[in-house]
Amino acid sequence: EKGGYDHFMIKEIYEQPKAIKDTLSPRINKDNVIKLDDIKITKEELEKINRVYIIACGTAYHAGLLGKVLIEKYVKIPVIADVASEFRYGSPFIDENTLMIVVSQSGETADTLAALRLAKKNNAKVYAVTNVVGSTISREADEVFYTWAGPEIAVASTKAYTTQLVSMALIALDMAVKKGTIDKKEYDKVLNELRGLSEKAQRILDNTELIKKASEKIYKAQSVFFIGRGIDYDVAREGSLKLKEISYIHSEAMAAGELKHGTIALIEEGTPVIAIATQERLYDKMLSNIKEVKARGAYVIALTKQGNEEIEKTADTVIYIPDVVDELTSVLSVIPLQLLAYYVAVMRGCDVDKPRNLAKSVTVE
Ligand code: F6R
Repeated sequence: EKGGYDHFMIKEIYEQPKAIKDTLSPRINKDNVIKLDDIKITKEELEKINRVYIIACGTAYHAGLLGKVLIEKYVKIPVIADVASEFRYGSPFIDENTLMIVVSQSGETADTLAALRLAKKNNAKVYAVTNVVGSTISREADEVFYTWAGPEIAVASTKAYTTQLVSMALIALDMAVKKGTIDKKEYDKVLNELRGLSEKAQRILDNTELIKKASEKIYKAQSVFFIGRGIDYDVAREGSLKLKEISYIHSEAMAAGELKHGTIALIEEGTPVIAIATQERLYDKMLSNIKEVKARGAYVIALTKQGNEEIEKTADTVIYIPDVVDELTSVLSVIPLQLLAYYVAVMRGCDVDKPRNLAKSVTVE
């Protein structure tokens, strides 16, 4: 059942090119038109919406963070992304002009479901992005968008996350087209890049030597830091969660610009820092942050796009992802981070598919 792989997690990591393709291709036709049959919101309904909440837990929340970036950028509506357990006990502003997008692989997570019910009670419209057909969340939402990742068995979420990311892009672009808030050139560029993601993900998976070497460098660490800015910070949070949940190494993700406001005090000789630097307009800022931690003795593994070779002067190891538009980097940059977490956990002899204290579906609070 593991199809020749040692664990479900690594099998599911390798299924990502297919999962991405299966999620995208039924929804994009050859003329670059997005058709989300599963989301039937009209232009009129969309025009009334003045606030979006994206609500989820754990990895699904990390995917939701990309939704915030893309909806704010392309649809020009303010978006609040929050974890469900915080959102539902806060004082959210929800009315009939609110759109809530809940993201849940299982479609059964208790806090996410409670957030959905709260939104519906206050007359908001709710989209669900889920991987399980017929799940409670899919039944209760107004509109359902399925990620076609196939069953995810490993507790640590991998292919669900990458399909959630591309779903966020499709939903944001569809809204932007309906509202007329994106120009055609930008739209075509992003769509063409979406089409290329599956093959680029495969390229990363075909060449894992450097990632294995990097794993050997960090598997004995006490603590690992992930840093990034913008979308790279969001993916840093996902990389950090993956590492801690399956390898039990303490890890923390930091907005790189926040380091100097406290966390940099923890960097000492040999502390591993994974620096994600894929965003063009933030690249120089990231180089400075890498220098800051290097100066305190950090061992830096940098993750960047092909073409950014001068980072090799500063970082100890550099892992490259294929070139891709900045808005979609996380679909690719998370893959080396998933592999890193996996290899480290295997080297440490951990029960990769069933990490201690965790359940695949959190149906209780
Ligand atoms: C991490 C992980 C969890 C889930 C979270 C939400 O690898 O799997 O953080 O992402 O429990 O689960 P769903 O998406 O089923 O609502």
